[in-house]
Amino acid sequence: MVEVGGVELQSPVMAASGTFGYGTDVPLCDRKALGGMVSKGIFLNARPGTPPPRIVETPSGMLNAIGLQGPGVEAVIRDYAPLWATWDFPVLVNINGESVDEYGELAARLDGVPGVAGLEVNISCPNVREGGLFFGNNPESAAAVTTAVRRRTSLPLWVKLTPAVSDISAIARACEEAGADALSAVNTFVGMSFDLGSGQPRLAFRTGGLSGPAIRPLALYLAYQVARAVSIPVVGIGGIARAEDAMEFLLAGCRAVQVGTATFVDPNAIGKIAAGISLPLVGKDPLAQSSDRPLASR
Ligand SMILES: Cc1cc2nc3c(=O)[nH]c(=O)nc-3n(C[C@H](O)[C@H](O)[C@H](O)COP(=O)(O)O)c2cc1C
Repeated sequence: MVEVGGVELQSPVMAASGTFGYGTDVPLCDRKALGGMVSKGIFLNARPGTPPPRIVETPSGMLNAIGLQGPGVEAVIRDYAPLWATWDFPVLVNINGESVDEYGELAARLDGVPGVAGLEVNISCPNVREGGLFFGNNPESAAAVTTAVRRRTSLPLWVKLTPAVSDISAIARACEEAGADALSAVNTFVGMSFDLGSGQPRLAFRTGGLSGPAIRPLALYLAYQVARAVSIPVVGIGGIARAEDAMEFLLAGCRAVQVGTATFVDPNAIGKIAAGISLPLVGKDPLAQSSDRPLASR
């Protein structure tokens, strides 16, 4: 067991938001190896997402612009939370707002719902026109969202950071001071791809979020910076496809990791990654890695 910001994980390897749906296809994965999962990102109301094409394969990765398609919070509480309450691994809900108040309202609605083990506050989605990345772009708005959520829930509160900032340490510290219990680092990087035949972007949304092994060294460096900047646990995300990749994030000071795109290649990637991690690394305290304090302060 690994404890991360008030959530007890079965292993240090979790399923990343948006790559595991609401967990209803979990039989495809070794449930015992799954540390926990984060649901697809939800808003207060149902959303259709962006028009297709929404996914483009790229070298060692993929671009996606799903646009946070989802049924809205009440449908999640009605249709999925009762199932989650019967599962043996924890499910966090990834929440998204168009305003600070909407994040707070989502937190209040999910507070105390059986089956919801915690919240992952997404201030880093590159694929929506309202909210999304905007809130994760500076310490003030990141702290405002975290404070609004903290006031309305006693659930474990994780904040998911964007890589699209010049000083991720400052954003991480602002979230910690505003009451986050853990930080997830990082979301996708903004990218694009053109179709030479049509001369148009391959994604209907034009841009998308880049994920997969292509981003791993970039994500690893950002997770490392975050782990040095804060005292709360950090969950590393970005391009993890093998146990060795996960171990790099643990060595960088992360308490746990999330796996996204690799699950599309191999539905049991998480099981294999969890089985391959050498035990001495599990649960290593990120503070032990942080003795020489934040890179940003040098
Ligand atoms: C198809 C797809 C949908 C995603 N949806 C969400 C989402 O709803 N909320 C979120 O915070 N992150 C979302 N992400 C980002 C992932 O959770 C993860 O941060 C990112 O893909 C990097 O990890 P990876 O390289 O292991 O995929 C999505 C990623 C993909 C590929």
